[in-house]
Amino acid sequence: MNVPDMYKSALLSDFGEPVKQRIRLADKMGELITVTGPTGSGKTHLAMAVARQVPGSILFHATELAVECAAQVSEWGMGGFRKFIMEIQKNERVVIIDDLGAAKLTEFYHQALLWIINYRESEGLAMIITTNKTLEEISETIDDRIASRMAGGVVLELTGEDRRIAG
Ligand SMILES: Nc1ncnc2c1ncn2[C@@H]1O[C@H](COP(=O)(O)OP(=O)(O)OP(=O)(O)O)[C@@H](O)[C@H]1O
Ligand SMILES: [Mg+2]
Repeated sequence: MNVPDMYKSALLSDFGEPVKQRIRLADKMGELITVTGPTGSGKTHLAMAVARQVPGSILFHATELAVECAAQVSEWGMGGFRKFIMEIQKNERVVIIDDLGAAKLTEFYHQALLWIINYRESEGLAMIITTNKTLEEISETIDDRIASRMAGGVVLELTGEDRRIAG
């Protein structure tokens, strides 16, 4: 996975015990965990730490997932797209989607995301979604079924100052 320089040393130990325990449990129990919090609170840092330290995890920025889906469709057709999604769903220990709601994606990509969420839920496989939107905003602007599944899973709220400003 291509980890940007800023997050190359991100570690789970950068977070407090409650956050680490929640992540460990979600991994073990195969839960859907939503990481929320204001900008700069460490959502991507946490996502990168999991991607670096939990073997078999895969991380996509939400927009990157959409771009990758589009590339698969254009190169391999719907069959290739299906194969790409099935491989993510089945083979990865933790699927991490960073920054859901950062960009407005089309219905097609929201359905692809819902497909991944549903599959992982039914198979008891872990998934982490980070967002700085509220679940209400996700329900209104993205998909109420995605928001409902996020609300039904574990919601982990990162609080604190914007670390970009605090330095
Ligand atoms: N627990 C932490 N320990 C050390 N550095 C951290 C920690 N959390 C965040 N940072 C650093 O603070 C900066 C902002 O964090 P990050 O990018 O994770 O915020 P974010 O919540 O994803 O914000 P946004 O909503 O804008 O995407 C980054 O440089 C990140 O590496
Ligand atoms: Mg972020």
